[in-house]
Amino acid sequence: MKKADYIWMDGEMRRWEDCTVHVMSHALHYGSSVFEGIRVYETPDGPAIFRLEDHIKRLFRSARMYRLEIPYDAETLCEACCAAVRDNKLTAGYIRPLVFRGAGSVGVTARDMPIHTMIAAFPWGTYLGEDALTKGVDVAVSSWNRLAPNTIPPGMKAGGNYLSSILIGYEAKDRGVAEGIGLGTDGLLSEGSGENLFLIEDDVIRTPPGAASILKGITRDTVIKLLADMGHNVIEQTMPREALYTADEIFFTGTAVEVTPVKMVDGFDVGTGDYPLTRKVQDGFFGLFSGQTKDTHGWLRHVGS
Ligand SMILES: Cc1ncc(COP(=O)(O)O)c(C=O)c1O
Repeated sequence: MKKADYIWMDGEMRRWEDCTVHVMSHALHYGSSVFEGIRVYETPDGPAIFRLEDHIKRLFRSARMYRLEIPYDAETLCEACCAAVRDNKLTAGYIRPLVFRGAGSVGVTARDMPIHTMIAAFPWGTYLGEDALTKGVDVAVSSWNRLAPNTIPPGMKAGGNYLSSILIGYEAKDRGVAEGIGLGTDGLLSEGSGENLFLIEDDVIRTPPGAASILKGITRDTVIKLLADMGHNVIEQTMPREALYTADEIFFTGTAVEVTPVKMVDGFDVGTGDYPLTRKVQDGFFGLFSGQTKDTHGWLRHVGS
């Protein structure tokens, strides 16, 4: 990660080095933070943040779950994201808003603690390696299941959830593949450690539903809508593990991975190695930033100068 010059923290822009936290912060001890990952893209009309309002809406939903009262309204945070991009003179990169419980008590459920809000913006390239978007990635089903329903809510983007992603991700790397796929505790397909999953078989496009222990990704929603615009229906449906080994095409979606083809699962080649529909989705998605796909949904927010 390349650092930037400034971070917006607790209402003001501060130097990156000055944004430190106390070791007794509740979030460090108990994982009580919520966050977002957002990309800013270079477009012909200058840098634009992708689906900013939707990410901030999800941040507020995650915060509500853990009784984290964000002391700003959504538009203030959206504007702070734009300012973080502008002040760091970014043309493209990644934005990380984070809300967390600070220091004040070691009580797990104590509520009288400061709530901190920070927004970092910094340069960032592809997530799963340089060739991932063009050549696809090898993946493996993890021995670790995703969070079970009614334990820690998988649909909220909270810091503590990512202990599961860390286990799935490290195991995948140890096995020499780029990413791991987590199954739900029912053995059905859920998602990757930090991305949603789409499978195509006989021209039918499926993705695990919200109840399959997934984080309902904003890129997932984008792809469903782009495919609808192109005349393709996506079925949100539970799927067994073996669907991975018979699919003609598989791809991941996420802010970090964008739209990444999967070329091998557990040693099985995916389809023939040709990804016509995945390529179509990639073209539609990346076209939003080159200008080739019309932004009919109003997903781009230009940061201005
Ligand atoms: C566990 C998990 N699933 C899915 C996603 C994809 O979500 P989005 O497309 O909103 O980035 C992410 C990334 O935020 C994630 O961490």
